Amino acid sequence: KYAQSAQSGPLRDRIAFEGKHQLLSVDQFTRESVEELFRIADQMQPIARRQKVSRVLEGAVLGNLFFEASTRTRVSFGAAFCRLGGSVCDTTGFTFSSMAKGESIYDTSRVMSGYVDAMVIRHPEKGSVAEFARATNIPVVNGGDGPGEHPSQALLDLYTILTEFSRLGKLLDGAHIALVGDLKYGRTVHSLIKLLALYRGLKFTLISPRGLEMPEYLLEQTGKHGHTVNQTNSLEEGLAGADVIYATRVQKERFAAEELEGYTPDFQVNKAIIDKCCGPDVIVMHPLPRDSREGANDLSVDLNHDTRLAIFRQTDNGIPVRMAIFAVLLGVEGLVQHSLRDV
Ligand code: CP
Repeated sequence: KYAQSAQSGPLRDRIAFEGKHQLLSVDQFTRESVEELFRIADQMQPIARRQKVSRVLEGAVLGNLFFEASTRTRVSFGAAFCRLGGSVCDTTGFTFSSMAKGESIYDTSRVMSGYVDAMVIRHPEKGSVAEFARATNIPVVNGGDGPGEHPSQALLDLYTILTEFSRLGKLLDGAHIALVGDLKYGRTVHSLIKLLALYRGLKFTLISPRGLEMPEYLLEQTGKHGHTVNQTNSLEEGLAGADVIYATRVQKERFAAEELEGYTPDFQVNKAIIDKCCGPDVIVMHPLPRDSREGANDLSVDLNHDTRLAIFRQTDNGIPVRMAIFAVLLGVEGLVQHSLRDV
């Protein structure tokens, strides 16, 4: 599943951000370090599956600061910390934090540093989590900064792809990855394309409505790594022969409704189009949430019982990957194996 590694020394020193143990961007990873994190995530699987118990983070407190809507990221980071024996304190939304009274990011971060041992932060502005991180020396994880990045999501996505490919006897090098939907504002695809670019000879097909294309700098960066990048507005053309389909929701909360003019409902990933364009071992992913409101069209529920749909295996993988992130940032990954107890 993973390449051999010649690296040594604590992983947290190799993914450190400005000398601190913080995870703000996937740019902090190499292929070796990301796979090292995944080996730790593999060790976490028995805990995530409730077959073993560990109290390796007993006494530690996580501050979960979410200033934007979230279900998966907030709860799975919290659950991951609790399953390693720690406790979690939450604040959700601006309304119920003192930011509603004008408190700055700097003050909030400094205050929280005195209360908790690590923070996961989601905030609607790009670059804001890095601002929190600069104000503190405790571990900070970017849980999504506006249209910027969502590194833990991309890590669990890549972990899922490698796990699914291992099950299917396929290699990621040389694979065809189709990214579909809102590639302009969707932060998960921004992080994911950078992580995938660490592999070799990938073919990317980027399928989006006009006006919601992948930012130019990411296209250039991916091309420089020697990957093939094609862009299209045709779902049928783009999905042909894909090994991975990664669908995304249109991030309507991030732009004016007028920008949606010209957006057609032709971007829905559903059973009919998968059957027509892809082989039996394609994997269909989505960071979730998928939009189930009328008129939304990102990923059909008609794939719910299709084994090619990997979305719930993907969400399950959020727990071991986020446990691995905490273990590394808090420097306890070497203690996990010795801390395992039967349920
Ligand atoms: N994938 C994801 O970030 O989901 P939430 O917005 O529910 O956290």
